[in-house]
Amino acid sequence: MSATYTATAKTLHWGIAILILGLLGLGFYMTGPALSPTKLQLYSWHKWVGVSVLALVIVRLAWRLTHRPPALPSHMPAIERPAALPAITCSTC
Ligand code: HEM
Repeated sequence: MSATYTATAKTLHWGIAILILGLLGLGFYMTGPALSPTKLQLYSWHKWVGVSVLALVIVRLAWRLTHRPPALPSHMPAIERPAALPAITCSTC
């Protein structure tokens, strides 16, 4: 079992996180201005990025089903371990 997540998993994780934060910002911003070509362009980008996030999440799930996650850190408090279980449990691993 690897001690850390692979570069692929980390890239997907942080890439998806950044895109979701961007979607939140864009989503709140784009609903403000009056209807205009710029507003429609922002809606189009929002939709495109949202669908891209969905595709990347599917890739991330496929990665997770085919790779073992690293063990939990030994210094992790016992109270936090049960919360991590759903993320590390995998019937095919
Ligand atoms: C995790 C964050 C978000 C994701 C993944 C996401 C994803 C999407 C996707 C895929 C669409 C296209 C849906 C369709 O055309 O049927 C969409 C549309 C839209 N989103 Fe978001 N979105 C997010 C956050 C937000 C936020 C924070 C707002 C505004 C406060 C927002 C406002 C809208 C609006 C107004 C539309 C257009 C709806 C329509 O065409 O009827 N979104 N979003």
